[in-house]
Parts: sequence; structure tokens; C-alpha cells
Amino acid sequence: MSAPVRFGVLGTGYWARTCHGTALQEHPDVELVGFHGRDLAKARAAADEYGGSGFDDLDAFLDAVDAVTIALPPDVQAPLAAAAARRGRHLLLEKPLSFDLAAADDVVAATRETGVASITYLTYLFQPDITDWLARMRELADEHGPWEGGVFRWAGSIDTPGNPYGDSPWRRASLGSWDTGPHALSIVHELFGPVSRVAAGRGVRDAVTVSLEHANGAGTQLSLTLTAPPGTGGSSATVWGPGGRHELPRFHGTPQEGLRRAVDRLRAAAETGVADPLDVTAARAVVAVLAAVEEHLARPDHATAVRAQP
Ligand SMILES: NC(=O)c1ccc[n+]([C@@H]2O[C@H](COP(=O)([O-])OP(=O)(O)OC[C@H]3O[C@@H](n4cnc5c(N)ncnc54)[C@H](OP(=O)(O)O)[C@@H]3O)[C@@H](O)[C@H]2O)c1
Repeated sequence: MSAPVRFGVLGTGYWARTCHGTALQEHPDVELVGFHGRDLAKARAAADEYGGSGFDDLDAFLDAVDAVTIALPPDVQAPLAAAAARRGRHLLLEKPLSFDLAAADDVVAATRETGVASITYLTYLFQPDITDWLARMRELADEHGPWEGGVFRWAGSIDTPGNPYGDSPWRRASLGSWDTGPHALSIVHELFGPVSRVAAGRGVRDAVTVSLEHANGAGTQLSLTLTAPPGTGGSSATVWGPGGRHELPRFHGTPQEGLRRAVDRLRAAAETGVADPLDVTAARAVVAVLAAVEEHLARPDHATAVRAQP
């Protein structure tokens, strides 16, 4: 197969334009065909700013592209991704793939039916500061033994005036784990491997704390929210094991640079037929953990009450 050249963006929101639009516009090897949205005026406005045409007809949009990049709410992304894959279009997916494991499984099935390539844009994993650090952590684990534990805090502050996600309905309606969890889990999965069991508790507003048991015996913890009080957001991670205790570094690149790398990896996977390690199955693995967290929180007996003094 040849590498896809004609790319189109599904979505016309903030991230679709500022990250996907900018990255595709600047990519030297691809053509930005345009944007698809349910509101044609918004799709045309995005195309006027970044390139290509505006579409509200999905069939016409899919006819015009070799690959789609998707920047839509999770419940909208998954069925459109499955439809695009069944039309033979390669997929660049956002996080989280879906809110629902069955919907994520259907996207996996669609890619298998048609053999299209896919890549999941887990931002941190496309930044050299982070991938170099992960490579060093892997070397240390090879030398000294596997990582044993980690604490991951991911906190957004969407109530800060001017935050571009402050009016996002799906972020307001869901637990903070759905937006920030994929970032934390992207690092967790790289260093600790698959998660076998979870337990979770609620904090204020959308906050969730999660304990993860990994298939290899390690245990990690996540603290996730999108509504940290202004000035208190940010991400941090500490991991430890026989190779020492280490802090996740900051990255200095831009999300647009990262997305261009994701486009390159999608094109390589399509051309070679070799699945990328961050294909749709990586997106599905993240949804599986986050869905298990929701399931745990929904259990009436999910927490053991601490007895108050009589
Ligand atoms: N990797 C990262 O660091 C990062 C950062 C930011 C965002 N993201 C991801 O990017 C994606 C987009 O995020 P966002 O905040 O820009 O936007 P969003 O709020 O998730 O989505 C906005 C877009 O979705 C469309 N939309 C909403 N409901 C729809 C529906 N029922 N049917 C069809 N279209 C619908 C909106 O169209 P209308 O304008 O017509 O409502 C708009 O084009 C999300 O998956 C998010 O997690 C990732």
C-alpha cells in the first residue's frame, strides 16, 4: 500500500483547528483536504483558516480523503472512526477513543475488517523529552529489574477564565478520568504494562483516585481531575523500583509537532502494513481501564465505610 496523502479532519472545534489543522497544514508530505462538521459554516470557516474545503456530507468527505484525523467528543468519535475504517480510510484517533468499551471494540473490528492503519494521538508519547526518558527507564528496568510502583497526578483547570475547554459539554458531564486519564495511562502502560484490576474513589467535583493492579504484580495510583482550582493544575509522575526513583520530565515541544509525528507514523504503518504499537488497540486498552473505573465507582459496595467514633 502507499502512504496516505489526502488527510481530512473530522471536527471543527478548538483542537481540530489549532492542533490538527495547523499540523496538517504544515506537514510537507500530506494535503489537507478540509474539515467535516455537522455545521457547514464552521467547517468552511476552519477550511478558510487552515486549508482545504468545508464538508457536512460525510460520504463526500470520506470520498475525498485517504486518511482522517478525528477531534470530536468520545461518543461521537468512535462510530465515525468505525465508519471511516469500513470505508478504507486510515485513522488518526484522539483520546479517549470512546466512553464505552463496545464502541471501542467496534473500531478495532472495523480496522481489522479492512486492514486500515491507525494511530492514537497520546500526546506525551510523541514528544522526544518523554520518549527519551521512557527509553532510559526501560534500560534501567532491564539492568536492575522491573518498576514496582508509581504515582501519577494529572489535573486540568477548566474553570480558569479563558480555558478553551471550559464550555465542553462532554468534559463537564464526565469524570475527570476520561479527559486526563488517557495521558496518565499512556505513561503507565509504557512502564508497567497491562492493568488487570482497578479500584477507584471519588473526590470533589469530577476528581477520581484510582489504584491499578498490573498483570506483572506492580501497583500504581492515579489522581485525576479537570477542575483543579485555578493555579493548582498540572501533571506529575513519580515511578520507583530497583532502578531508583524517577520523576517524569516536562516536554518542550508543541502538540502540533507531536501530531505531525503521529501522521508520519500512521503513514509508515499504512505503507508497510506493520501495525504501530500505538494503533487502535492502544486506544482500546485505555478505554478498558477507564470503563473499569466507572464500573467500580457504580458498584454500591465500591468503598468500605470507616467507622466514626460512637
Ligand atoms: N491530545 C491532547 O492533548 C488533546 C487536547 C485537547 C483535546 N483533545 C481531544 O480532541 C478531541 C476534541 O476536543 P475539543 O475540546 O476540541 O472538542 P470537543 O468539545 O471534544 O468537540 C468539539 C467538536 O465536536 C463537534 N460535536 C460535538 N457534538 C457533536 C455531535 N453530537 N455530532 C457531531 N459533532 C459534534 C463540535 O461541533 P459543533 O461545533 O457543531 O458543536 C465540534 O466540532 C477530544 O477527543 C479531546 O480529548 C486532545
